Amino acid sequence: MSEFNNQQKIPFSKLAQRLNSESGEAWQVHEQALKMKRRGEDVVLLSIGDPDFQTPEPIIDNAVSHMRVGRTHYSPALGELNLRRAVADYETMVSPNPCDAEQVSIYPGVTAAIFSVMSCLLDAGDEIIIVDPPYVGYGPIMQALDAEVKTVMALPENGFEPQLDDFIRAISDKTKVVFINTPGNPTGAIIPRNTLTSLSRYCYDRGIWLVCDEVYSMLTYEKPHISLRTAAQRLDNVVVVDGLSKSHAMSGWRMGWAVAPVELTAHLGRFAAMSIFGCPQFIQDAAAFALNNDQYYVKDMCDQYQKRRDLVCAGLDEMPRLKYLRPQSGMFIMVEVSGICEDDKVFAQKLLDAERLSVLPGSAFGNSARGHIRLSLVQPENVLVEGCKRLQRFVNAVAQAES
Ligand SMILES: Cc1ncc(COP(=O)(O)O)c(C=O)c1O
Repeated sequence: MSEFNNQQKIPFSKLAQRLNSESGEAWQVHEQALKMKRRGEDVVLLSIGDPDFQTPEPIIDNAVSHMRVGRTHYSPALGELNLRRAVADYETMVSPNPCDAEQVSIYPGVTAAIFSVMSCLLDAGDEIIIVDPPYVGYGPIMQALDAEVKTVMALPENGFEPQLDDFIRAISDKTKVVFINTPGNPTGAIIPRNTLTSLSRYCYDRGIWLVCDEVYSMLTYEKPHISLRTAAQRLDNVVVVDGLSKSHAMSGWRMGWAVAPVELTAHLGRFAAMSIFGCPQFIQDAAAFALNNDQYYVKDMCDQYQKRRDLVCAGLDEMPRLKYLRPQSGMFIMVEVSGICEDDKVFAQKLLDAERLSVLPGSAFGNSARGHIRLSLVQPENVLVEGCKRLQRFVNAVAQAES
């Protein structure tokens, strides 16, 4: 037999190559911190976004009992009717606009919901407007779809709330989708009702889809969450995605949904049939149970996050050279560190080196979070107190070195 002589590298798809260009810069300090922790070092991780709470026991019991009775088979592509109804009831409860199960599609997590929705709305080269700083998971989805991304800056001086005028300035004849996130990650900002109402009207008049990621909708503190479905007067161009990852501490269960006009939901069903091909039945059963019975434990977790926020804010008050915005929602606090160090990435690296405290640098999210770090609240109170102590020690050491 002759020798193999094909020296050429067999190429990957353009999609795979586009995804390969992602720098992963956001996670460099975090990954280093994880390695240190695995080596047994005493590292405080305030760079995580996964709830530390256990999924409430009754939800686990519900899933197990459904597994035992054979709910372990294929499921309809759009999701089990029981869960679609539970989502529709939830969406109807939080908005004056009723929602029908026909408008709901179920996914293994919000990320899959966003990817599916965007796949049914965007062609390569289509323009999408997103808000800077965005959740780090959005970029790769837009890259996969080869969409043209334009950003609207949500600036710290506006409490990181994106402004209607900036959306209007950014929207062009080419805009196909405006994608927003309220309550927001990384900033915790809640987009006010009047901005949502005017923006949805503006998009509706121009035939533009308005998609809103509301995965933190059930984790709000003083200010209530205003859903896009509540604020919008017409829902023909409106899509809301949400899920149980954060509010119910169910990130590993992979449960999310999209609420969209019926015609789009039919497209989503065909897309799901050739991609996810349905989610596990017993997980959907437990998710429906969770949504129908969650008054007590969602509130309990939310109260605990609020207590943690207050604790960390009290710690930050002791560090006058750091400015911060008290978040109204979510699991993160953005802290401005530019008074101490121009470059937030350098700040995060030095903080890890000196104090073994891991935080995410804001510039890894986007330009408008430059000069900030993101502290996360998904750690018990004693760990948060220790994190604040280390941050304070670091800030004091910098001040001493300067004097
Ligand atoms: C704003 C936002 N959207 C979506 C997600 C991903 O949600 P899921 O885990 O349900 O895919 C996250 C996770 O951190 C997030 O912060």
